[in-house]
Amino acid sequence: MHPLTSVTGPLAPGALDPDTVDLADPATFADHDLTAFWRTLRDTRPVHWNRPTATRRGFWVLSRHEDVMAVHRDNENFTSERGNVLVTLLEGGDAGAGRMLAVTDGPRHEQLRKILLRSLGPRVLRPVAAAVRANTRSLVRKAVAGGTCDFALEIASRIPMNTISNLLGVPETDRDFLLGLNKTALSSDDDDVDEEESAMARNEILLYFHDLVEERRRAPGEDLISVLAHSTVDGATLTDEDVVLNCYSLIIGGDETSRLSMIDSVYSLAAHPEQWQRLKNGEVGVDTAVDEVLRRASPSMHFGRTALRDIEINGVTIRRDDIVTLWHYSANRDERVFDRPEVFDLGRAPNRQISFGYGPHYCVGAYLAKIEISELLLALRDFTTGFEPAGPALRLRSNLLNGFHSLPVRFFPDPAGPAYDDELREVG
Ligand code: HEM
Repeated sequence: MHPLTSVTGPLAPGALDPDTVDLADPATFADHDLTAFWRTLRDTRPVHWNRPTATRRGFWVLSRHEDVMAVHRDNENFTSERGNVLVTLLEGGDAGAGRMLAVTDGPRHEQLRKILLRSLGPRVLRPVAAAVRANTRSLVRKAVAGGTCDFALEIASRIPMNTISNLLGVPETDRDFLLGLNKTALSSDDDDVDEEESAMARNEILLYFHDLVEERRRAPGEDLISVLAHSTVDGATLTDEDVVLNCYSLIIGGDETSRLSMIDSVYSLAAHPEQWQRLKNGEVGVDTAVDEVLRRASPSMHFGRTALRDIEINGVTIRRDDIVTLWHYSANRDERVFDRPEVFDLGRAPNRQISFGYGPHYCVGAYLAKIEISELLLALRDFTTGFEPAGPALRLRSNLLNGFHSLPVRFFPDPAGPAYDDELREVG
């Protein structure tokens, strides 16, 4: 039997009782405001034990920025190879372990990571950035001219998916099909989608890439699938399965989190017109604004590890083989690191947001994701004088992903906007 945390204390006003909250249950996030709960955890139970249920194990919950960073950094005492999110950690492992970058450790991880970083670095991404700009501006311009749209479906769903598909060389005709699978694979836009359907969607994505990898082996192009298919790790060419698993992780990682960050940026800016004005008037830099958008959105709420040996965190003993979850959502709101964390402040500097993780597994797509979010903010700044909700925003139901799957918005066009000439502006 596990000890409860050794550090306990009073609950913050309005906080749910940590001993009854189950962070593995998507309903916890859909049905409750957890602001006070997280504050209680950070203040009084920084190393909290989420109790087991009849059907699954318990796990540790880290909520402070410092502790989350420490475990991210420590790949001696913690492994990603038994899963890095609750769904796989609780199932006892990840089918991609040792082959898919995010769930591989050690020298193999380093070699695979180098291959991907080469394809996702600033120089290689220059043409990709130009395409992101053109696509984003065209989508925003059209939506603004139309007056209202569902921002989540009509704009945000079409930026990251197109970008990662361009990188991988996914034909345009297949993109809507893959987008639908992505939305079912990890989270649920629809309360009726169950785990079985999600698992089927994940399988379909793998099958889809299997065919594409075979094709690229026969006729390589300039795309990332071709690069992976002809790369070697430990002196051996990557197998079809290795390539497929990494494509899977890129299409999921490259689409969902960036899409949710963009949706959250519009939701938060509509709710805080004074921050929108600071962006519109050029009072805050776009890079600074992007970091605050990422902090606020915290699109992947947690990641996780398994302890390889007994280890102490903040006076609490974590046993070998225990699951330790790292809550970025809470770390991004830690009062010990962020001044008035509840305030959405586009000029926040410094901003040690941890949405991309930290250390050896730091997100390889961070640079690309930042390009996508900044291009969105620039397009909004150039083509609209503002925007407001045009209907209820609908939340995802997930223990991993945070955000909205539908966001109806009404745009107010900026008459000066269309005068901008995209071709003349340099890509940053
Ligand atoms: C890793 C978040 C966009 C591909 C990670 C990790 C986080 C993260 C937190 C670390 C996971 C861990 O420590 O276990 C995000 C967020 C994004 C984003 C918030 C957007 C706002 C992207 C994009 C791509 C991508 C655009 C692909 C182009 C990956 C991959 C890894 C990763 C392959 C594994 C890295 C490794 O294990 O070395 N991401 N990501 N991500 N991300 Fe992202």
